[in-house]
Amino acid sequence: MLSGYNRCEIMDTPSTRRQFLRQSLCVVAAGILPWSAIKAAAEENVSGPRSLRAHAQAHGLLVGCAVVPEKLADETPYANTVAQQANLLVAENAMKWRALRPAPDKYNFAPADAILAFANAHDQGLRGHNLCWHEALPDWFQTTVTHENARQILTTHIQHVAGHFAGKLHSWDVVNEAIDVKDGRPDGLRKSPWLDLVGPDYVEIAFRTAHKADAKVLLTYNDYGIELDTPEQEQKRAQVLALVKRLKSRHVPIHAVGIQSHLTAGEGIPGAGLREFIRELRAMDMQVFITELDVSDHKLTGSAAERDDAVAKLYGDYLSLVLAEPNVKAVLTWGITDKYTWLNHQHRRSDGLQQRCLPFDVEYQPTPVFFAMRDALDARRRP
Ligand code: G3I
Repeated sequence: MLSGYNRCEIMDTPSTRRQFLRQSLCVVAAGILPWSAIKAAAEENVSGPRSLRAHAQAHGLLVGCAVVPEKLADETPYANTVAQQANLLVAENAMKWRALRPAPDKYNFAPADAILAFANAHDQGLRGHNLCWHEALPDWFQTTVTHENARQILTTHIQHVAGHFAGKLHSWDVVNEAIDVKDGRPDGLRKSPWLDLVGPDYVEIAFRTAHKADAKVLLTYNDYGIELDTPEQEQKRAQVLALVKRLKSRHVPIHAVGIQSHLTAGEGIPGAGLREFIRELRAMDMQVFITELDVSDHKLTGSAAERDDAVAKLYGDYLSLVLAEPNVKAVLTWGITDKYTWLNHQHRRSDGLQQRCLPFDVEYQPTPVFFAMRDALDARRRP
């Protein structure tokens, strides 16, 4: 612990990066410690027992992020930060149809296997994402899959892929984003190629096939736009609950719901509707995973510090709400560093500035989001 100095008070453990930097400048300016020692102290403040994974493990939680195999292999700071902070990983793209299936008769498991090897080497679990989605389908899909062969192609893919990873994964996103209330169906199902080609029981078929290929893995239904207290998101939550109820009533193996949690600062806050949704899932003996958490700052103006504070506050408020529910078992952010967030593509800021949306910035320094997440993890079990 650094004691106080005539020019500035050094607190025991800075809880934000800004506090740490302010203290550090005092100490360096006072000629008391070299910058290298300061950087080492910064590292110590977020690693080992101070890391997200340590704080999560202390409360029986899993925490982690989506990863890209090429970055794990080629970018040391990326790999080190992922290893240091996560005890659960998910492939951002490497386990989707488009990545796994270069041709109708070909599978490419190498990138996904590289992520699995990294997870095993760092005592981390791995989520599979995803076995059935209307996006990220390979180019050959449209010209190959017909009403006659769609069911066979879907079940063969799931048998092969879930079979390849059998016994090695924490959970699968078996079906991703199957609900779209705007499509107007009574069952709320999205008018996707799978619905069109296989029919509404494609969801049940996918879950049953996955369970047959790997009886140990937790089978998850994953979706977005179910976080906020708006009429549209309340309707979508109701349809997700109805889908889960239908599957459970038919004894379909389903164990968890993934709440993607792609939030936007300045666009409403989560509330009682989400809490009730999680509790209704608990009543059905369902686990809940926060699967793709990030907070877009594209609607925010103001300084970087002001944007950081607003983003970190939403992380803290959101995680405090969901982590108060005992069936919420895991929190994954959609990426670990602002440097590679998908938000810089799909939610570009009009001013062209870099999104500031994840626990580590473009130089792998912890952001206020990191500290907000760590505090929320710690608050989990407080009475
Ligand atoms: O790998 C190719 C590259 O070879 C090519 O040069 C480049 C040019 O287009 O495309 C690259 O593939 C891109 C891929 O990400 C890898 O970067 C695809 O075009 C692009 O569509 C793909 O976007 C991903 C998107 O899902 C669609 O699969 C995003 O990275 C990924 O963050 C996003 O993640 C989704 C979740 O899976 C489901 N929930 C929503 C979430 C955000 O959309």
